[in-house]
Amino acid sequence: MDQNVDPQRFKEGMRRLGASVCLITTRRPDGERFGLTATAVCSLSAAPPTLLCCLNTSSRSFEAVSSAGVFCVNVLSEADAGVAHHFASGDRPVAEKFQAGRWREGPTGAPMLETAIAAFDCTLEQAVEVGTHAIMIGRVGEIGLGASAQPLLYVQGGYGRFTAADAEATLAAG
Ligand SMILES: Cc1cc2nc3c(=O)[nH]c(=O)nc-3n(C[C@H](O)[C@H](O)[C@H](O)COP(=O)(O)O)c2cc1C
Repeated sequence: MDQNVDPQRFKEGMRRLGASVCLITTRRPDGERFGLTATAVCSLSAAPPTLLCCLNTSSRSFEAVSSAGVFCVNVLSEADAGVAHHFASGDRPVAEKFQAGRWREGPTGAPMLETAIAAFDCTLEQAVEVGTHAIMIGRVGEIGLGASAQPLLYVQGGYGRFTAADAEATLAAG
């Protein structure tokens, strides 16, 4: 019975779900590059190596990934908060997006960010539309691993960094 769930309350709950920030990128057959900032990314299966991300079907990137059939999930380091902000703008002309960051072409043709702490080059296996978004399931064909660096995190509407909790001290104090 979802008619009792207020969408604002749903969003408030989801604001508390901290996540790693990624850029989902693609290159259409005509060569044009697209990309957006995304936190809705999840590992699905190690064998075969598969992941999923959720894209708003009204985004330009959704259309581009659907037609290209490939995408790359670039996991950002905390040093790339500015790049995350840049790629989150829906008003920015597509041609300007890739002026931020240093890029190379992955095996599928999707752009890989040179400073990503991990980059998963994928072939689109399946897209499942639910409400405003689509679950994009990708088979991972290549993984780039960057220099070990701290991930960029997003929670409560702000970017931040990971700090390890001292689980034993927390238990002892509890
Ligand atoms: C931190 C953060 C996380 C986001 N996560 C997602 C996401 O998981 N999926 C999505 O479709 N949009 C997400 N967005 C919104 C897109 O980045 C935004 O709508 C973007 O402008 C779409 O660009 P495009 O139209 O060029 O594809 C997120 C934005 C921010 C700031």
